[in-house]
Amino acid sequence: MKSLIMKGARIIATGSAVPNSTINNSQMCQLVETSDEWIVTRTGIKERRILTGFNKSIIDLAVVASIKALDKISMHPSEIDLIILATSSPNDLFGSASQLQAKIKACNAVAFDLTAACSGFVLATVTASQFLQNGNYHNILVVGADVLSKWVNWSDRSTCILFGDAAGAVILQSCSKQDNKILGFQLNTDGNYYRHLSISYKEVINPHPILSLYQGYFESIYMNGKEVYKFAVSQVPLSILKCLNSLNLSINDIDWLLLHQANERILNAVADKLSIDSSKIIANLSKYGNTSAASIPLALDEAVQENKIAEDDIIVISGFGAGLTWGTLVIQWKYK
Ligand code: COA
Repeated sequence: MKSLIMKGARIIATGSAVPNSTINNSQMCQLVETSDEWIVTRTGIKERRILTGFNKSIIDLAVVASIKALDKISMHPSEIDLIILATSSPNDLFGSASQLQAKIKACNAVAFDLTAACSGFVLATVTASQFLQNGNYHNILVVGADVLSKWVNWSDRSTCILFGDAAGAVILQSCSKQDNKILGFQLNTDGNYYRHLSISYKEVINPHPILSLYQGYFESIYMNGKEVYKFAVSQVPLSILKCLNSLNLSINDIDWLLLHQANERILNAVADKLSIDSSKIIANLSKYGNTSAASIPLALDEAVQENKIAEDDIIVISGFGAGLTWGTLVIQWKYK
C-alpha cells in the first residue's frame, strides 16, 4: 500500500508488565488432563502468568507497562497526545482506555480502545502512525493488554493451556519525513471465519416478558485450533511478502521476525516458509504463553532490554488472530 506521508514516525520507548502468579505445565496437569510433554511439543509453552486477586484488570498491567515506557525516556505523561489501548478483555465494555489515561495522569491525551484480539497491537500501531505521519499528533502511547485468563474455560484443555496475561507499551513520536522508521504495513480481515476463534455473546432463550427483548452474556473462549493454525501458517507469510514487496525490501533485509506469540510451531513454520533463519525469530512464549494483544510489545520490550536489537535493524512484525484479522508492520529500529 502506498501512502503519502507528511512526517515520519518512530518508536522511542517500550515497556511491559506481567503478573507475578505463574502457572507452569505441571500445575496445569492438576486442572485438566494434559502433560508437560504434550503442551511443550505442540505449543512450546512452559508456563504463563495469570492476573490473580480481586478487582484486578488490564488497567493494573497497562499502567505499569506505560509508566515503564515513559520513565525510560523521562517523558512526562502530559506530553502524550493520544492513547490507543488494544485489548479484547476490557474491564468496561464502554472502553478502558480512559481509566489508563486518568491513572497515568496523561491529562492532555485523548484515549480510546481498539479491539482486534491478537492483531490488536499491529492495528493500534498502524493507526497511531497515521496520526503521526499526517502531522496531527506528536506523541502517542500504544498499549496492548489482555487478561484472557478471565475468559478462558479452565476445564477446556484445548484452550486453557495456551493463554496468559500481560501488557506491553510503546511510545511513538513524530519526526522528520527522512527519519521515518514505521516503514510500511499490510492489513487484512476475513470475517467469514470469525467463528473459528471467538468470545461470543449468547442471548438467553426467554425474552423480557414485556419488551420482547433478548439479553445475554459473553461465553468463554472458543477456538478451532486446527483451522486457526492452518490460517496462520498460510496467510501470515503472504502478508509479510506483500508488505516487503510494497517497500522494495527482500527477505534478506529482515534482521528480526517478531510474530504474535501464539505457538512455537507457527513461528517456525512461518520462518521456514519464508526461508528466514530461525536465529532471527524473536520468541518468549515459553515463559508467557499467548498473551493476545500484549504478546508483540512484550516480546519487543524484552528483546530491546536484552540488547538483541541493533541500531537500524529491520523488524518484521506480524499479528494474527480472531476476526479473523492479520497483518504485518515493518519498522526500523532507532535508539536515539
Ligand atoms: N493436552 C493433551 N491432549 C490434548 C490437549 C491438551 N492440552 N488439547 C487437545 N488434546 C488432544 C485432543 O483431544 C486430541 O485428542 P484425540 O486425537 O484423542 O481427539 C489430540 O490432542 C489432538 O488435538 P488437536 O486439536 O488436533 O491438536 P493439535 O495438534 O491441532 O494442537 C493446538 C492443538 C491448539 C495446540 C493447535 O491446533 C494450535 O496451536 N492451533 C493454533 C492455536 C492458536 O495459535 N490460537 C491463537 C491464535 S491467536
